[in-house]
Parts: sequence; C-alpha cells; structure tokens
Amino acid sequence: MEYVRTGIEDFDGLFAKNGYPQGNSILVIGGPGTGKSIFGLQYLYKGATLYDEPGIYVTLEETPKKIERNMAAFGWDIRKLVEEGKLLIMDATSPRIKEMDTDVVKRGLGVDNLIANLKEMITSTGAKRVVIDSLSVIGFYSADEFDTRTKLIRLSVSLSEMDVTSLVLAEARTNEIGTSEFPPETFLFDGVIWMMLDTNSQERRIAIRKMRGTKHVLGSFKFTISDDGISIKA
Ligand SMILES: Nc1ncnc2c1ncn2[C@@H]1O[C@H](COP(=O)(O)OP(=O)(O)O)[C@@H](O)[C@H]1O
Ligand SMILES: [Mg+2]
Repeated sequence: MEYVRTGIEDFDGLFAKNGYPQGNSILVIGGPGTGKSIFGLQYLYKGATLYDEPGIYVTLEETPKKIERNMAAFGWDIRKLVEEGKLLIMDATSPRIKEMDTDVVKRGLGVDNLIANLKEMITSTGAKRVVIDSLSVIGFYSADEFDTRTKLIRLSVSLSEMDVTSLVLAEARTNEIGTSEFPPETFLFDGVIWMMLDTNSQERRIAIRKMRGTKHVLGSFKFTISDDGISIKA
C-alpha cells in the first residue's frame, strides 16, 4: 500500500506510515471558517510542488480568481501551477459548466456531470489528487434525504473507482468534536477529518475520526493558520 502526504508535517505524522492510504476518499468536515478550503488547497499545492502529483480542485463557492488571490497570502502561486498543468480548477460557477446543466444554478453541478467531468479531467491531466469544495457543489442540501443519500453513494463509489486520493469538503451540522450525531455522509467515505474552531478559547483543532487502511493517532490537535498556511502546533 502507498501512502499520501498532505505536506503538513505534523499532520502526516499522526498516521503510522506518515500519510493516508492512496486511493482513499476522505470527508473533511467542519463549520464555516474552520480552514477546510485552505486545507484542501494546501493538500493540492504541496502535492504539486513537493510530491509531483497533479491535482484537481472543484469549486462552487469561490471563483478561481479569489482562490488565487487568497492563497497568495501563503506564498502559493496558484496561477503558476495552473499554467504548468499541475493544478486544474474546475469552476462550477463558470458559464461553460452551467451550459451542461441548465438547472445548475439552482441545484448545483449535477452529480453525474461532476463524475463524468472528473473522469475526463483525471485522464487528461494525470491528476492524483482531487478536492471537491464543497458537497453543496452537487446541490445536496436542496434535495430530500433519500436523494442526498443516493447522490452521495454515487459520488463516493465513483471516487473510489478513480485512481486518485480525494478530499470532499463538507459543512458540519455541529461544531462539537465529540458529538455522536454524525451526518449520513460520514459513513460513505474511507476517512473523516474533523476541523473545528472554538471561538471562546480562540483555538483551532483538527482530528482524524476515521481512516480505513491505516493506524492513526486519536484525539484532536491544535493547529494554526499563518503565513505558511496550516500547521499543527507541537
Ligand atoms: N492569510 C491568512 N492568514 C491567517 N489566517 C487566515 C488567512 N486567510 C484566511 N485565514 C483564516 O482562515 C479562515 C478561512 O478558512 P477557509 O479554509 O476558507 O474556511 P472554510 O473553508 O472551512 O470555511 C478565515 O476565516 C481566517 O480565519
Ligand atoms: Mg470553504
């Protein structure tokens, strides 16, 4: 088995083999502002620059322009990666994608469109890493529970058939890390990474809730977002 590094040193160190199993699809779940998008982009940036693994970032919420601008704060030249073919940003807000499904504005990029697009893009770019930011991209939250569940199963099965290691970002229903009330999506993925922000103690924390195929440290760890992006405090 091969293992994939995020490049966030002390985070990778939480896994027995210094990374999570290649091919896993992992749900990254947390409330707004907990750092999910930054985590996802850092995974892709480090993958492309340190580990020679091209990536694909599917975005609905932020335009590529804003992503470029925001990530420049961490010294990550997103545009350069795109130009070098090491990063493909699938802009679900762009007219081109919208043309493929007239309901896209209302319902988000359809799950079948997304899967078909991803397969094509993975083949053409040789991408090894995929980040979907976020589940709302597929319009999950506007559908009924059964529909949501069906789409999620289609997505997670398709991701596991693709030769990539993927992060799917999702909004948490609660900020509590010890909660037993997990949303249904957590059961469909090979891994669950939980991010949280305690505004009282002004602390950010990250925890590995689940990771098929590897031993890992339990418990939650303080992390910061600074000029280099995310790092885990020793
Ligand atoms: N350049 C920066 N330096 C330090 N912290 C930052 C910087 N840019 C953003 N942040 C922090 O990261 C948060 C946004 O992270 P993001 O990954 O977009 O959250 P999420 O995707 O979980 O909603 C901001 O609310 C802010 O606290
Ligand atoms: Mg986000």
